[in-house]
Amino acid sequence: SRRGILFGGAAAGLGAVATLGVESLAGRGTTAQASEELHGQEVIPFYGQHQAGIATAPQAHAVYLALTLRNGVDREGLMRLLRLLTDDAARLTQGEAALADTEPELATVPARLTVTFGFGPKLVEMAGSSAADIQPLPKFSIDRLQERWNDGDLLLHLGSDDPFTLAHTQRMLLKDARSFCEVKWVQTGFRRSRGSEASGTTMRNLFGQVDGTVNPAPATDDFTSLVWNEDGSTTMVIRRIHMDVDTWDEVDRSGREFSVGRTLSNGAPTTGTNEHDEPDFGAMTALGFPVIADQAHIRRARSENTSERIFRRGYNYDEQPSGTQMSDSGLIFVSYQKNVERQYIPLQKRLAELDALNQWTTPIGSAVFLIPPGCAEGGFIGEALFT
Ligand code: HEM
Repeated sequence: SRRGILFGGAAAGLGAVATLGVESLAGRGTTAQASEELHGQEVIPFYGQHQAGIATAPQAHAVYLALTLRNGVDREGLMRLLRLLTDDAARLTQGEAALADTEPELATVPARLTVTFGFGPKLVEMAGSSAADIQPLPKFSIDRLQERWNDGDLLLHLGSDDPFTLAHTQRMLLKDARSFCEVKWVQTGFRRSRGSEASGTTMRNLFGQVDGTVNPAPATDDFTSLVWNEDGSTTMVIRRIHMDVDTWDEVDRSGREFSVGRTLSNGAPTTGTNEHDEPDFGAMTALGFPVIADQAHIRRARSENTSERIFRRGYNYDEQPSGTQMSDSGLIFVSYQKNVERQYIPLQKRLAELDALNQWTTPIGSAVFLIPPGCAEGGFIGEALFT
């Protein structure tokens, strides 16, 4: 009713519980009480030892912007750019307008906005540090990389629970960067909207799989030892992986579960019941075959060497198909690790050699960035590299 909507609107403005007259899935056909919680004012601190946006609980939406430095921008210019971007990122993440914000009203809903900076090899070298650890990945046999999705000098990773906030943030930061940089590529990704599921629910990818179950938990010693370097930095691998949802859906359910070694219903290993049950890699079928096949993704992705682990924090992409295509979907695979060569590459090599999922997945873009440590107020991201 109109009355309900009016009351709902007023109550929502106060951040209170509102009767909105919506239907819930559980009580279909009835008018249920819905509690409305507003998340737009939630902020993630910008300054600190580490940059935000990595250990931060993943926001619903992400944009990854890779920029190339224009010819003629020198070290001083680069520092100016980083200062500008840092200042505006700090403001915007706290719900304040950027310095030259012509639409300051759009900055007032951060919705857990984070801006994370990554440096490609060229920037690290310009700063005067060694880029030996952040070279592009070697070519893998499964790769069908397209230059338009590869590499980049400066990465800006924006995350928020509100895609509108991301649009505004992207515009403000590109305004800062435009006289120094050109856009190399932009990748936009999503998970479930905030509030659609209990927070902390493991995400699903567009194959329907629960994706992210076995992952080091932020704020644990395990996470620190795998992800954060002493100076607060880390490295990021970002791979655009096309997922052929149109041939995937031709496979029956047990075949789809077999390829990973986990069920589609709740992500439990095919040897267990619940999502977080430990897979039993030794279990055999009555016919004497391993229940979790030799080529199952989870068997191939697990190393006996526990230091060869990574932190995965990816997003789905789903672009509009064109022409005869039915879909253009996939995963923006993102991983963080102290060291790409020691942690990521052995794992990726194994998966390139054998992984049932390879039948439906194709890496089409790849980049590696150094994620500099966070900074203190008054400083700028990356300053520690300028020695
Ligand atoms: C686990 C999907 C690419 C590394 C999983 C799981 C799924 C999945 C469903 C099981 C649940 C979980 O623990 O998260 C996919 C899809 C991919 C993909 C659809 C491509 C589109 C990759 C890549 C890597 C990787 C490129 C690393 C190079 C891992 C690791 C695990 C895992 C380390 C946990 C294995 C364990 O149980 O110890 N992936 N994955 N995945 N994946 Fe992937």
